[in-house]
Amino acid sequence: MRQDVDLRVDIGRLTLRNPVMTASGTFGYGGEYAPFVDLDRLGAIVVKGLSLQPSAGNPPPRIVETACGMLNAIGLENIGIEDFVRKRLPFLQRLQTPVIANVYGKTVNEYERLAARIDGVDGIAAIEVNISCPNVRAGGMAFGVDAAVAADLVGAVRRRTAKPVTVKLSPNVTDITAIAKAVVAAGADSVSLINTITGMAIDVRKRRPRLANITGGLSGPAIKPVALRMVWEVARAVDVPVIGVGGIMNAEDALEFLIAGASAVQVGTANFVNPAATEEIIDGLSDYLLKFGMRSIREIIGSLET
Ligand SMILES: Cc1cc2nc3c(=O)[nH]c(=O)nc-3n(C[C@H](O)[C@H](O)[C@H](O)COP(=O)(O)O)c2cc1C
Repeated sequence: MRQDVDLRVDIGRLTLRNPVMTASGTFGYGGEYAPFVDLDRLGAIVVKGLSLQPSAGNPPPRIVETACGMLNAIGLENIGIEDFVRKRLPFLQRLQTPVIANVYGKTVNEYERLAARIDGVDGIAAIEVNISCPNVRAGGMAFGVDAAVAADLVGAVRRRTAKPVTVKLSPNVTDITAIAKAVVAAGADSVSLINTITGMAIDVRKRRPRLANITGGLSGPAIKPVALRMVWEVARAVDVPVIGVGGIMNAEDALEFLIAGASAVQVGTANFVNPAATEEIIDGLSDYLLKFGMRSIREIIGSLET
């Protein structure tokens, strides 16, 4: 029965077999989840954030459980773009599923070099630019909190690659639509949102922060209403596809984002709770369409009635 419905969605030039992607940093480099998920069923795999050089990330403790979510301060630990292309990409290239490389840097030049490196690599369908990282030239303020700085960065990436560029927006801003509009004007083919919301937790016995980094990024169900509101605002403000992310644990959560205007979704923290979450969400979307007599998931996207 499930094959009777059409789950395909378009993210600009990219057509996905369904709208369910993995969220960067929560699904490793893909292969780690092969024992739990049929990777060929996913809409797309977004790999953990890649930098030019390998990075060890922050010292532990770097994860804390919170009410309905978690705080992480992993610090973007990764093996670096060269080892990714040499050691991890060959496995991913054997899949049918598009692979999206999430990238980050400390300067515009680092992002440019990452984009140029990836441009010539077969088997990477698109680049997702994480703009939530500190800009060392601007005293550590994140690229994604200033529209002009974010646009400058995205324009520089755009000039270095012909691949589709998605910009992953930070929620730690006053008006996310202003940033979204700026990065779209600078050449983003789509936007994904939200990244984690900055938070902290304190051990009252020791009177010390629970994270060695003091602050971290909040994710999971606790952030879903905020993410949903931002996706709805951004989907009305820009004319490129929006990818919704934040606290999606099941198909109903995913449907909320699609109805709010997202063309696809990313599943993050849920993978830690239930490694098969992505597949269950794909099945749940099919079941929903069948139940309501719809043929295509496209009928759902942006169908919110207010
Ligand atoms: C442990 C962890 C690592 C993450 N690493 C990255 C990353 O490397 N790049 C990125 O853009 N987002 C990263 N994120 C943010 C997620 O991709 C996602 O935007 C966020 O967690 C909200 O979705 P969720 O509530 O479904 O987890 C990370 C999140 C977590 C929890």
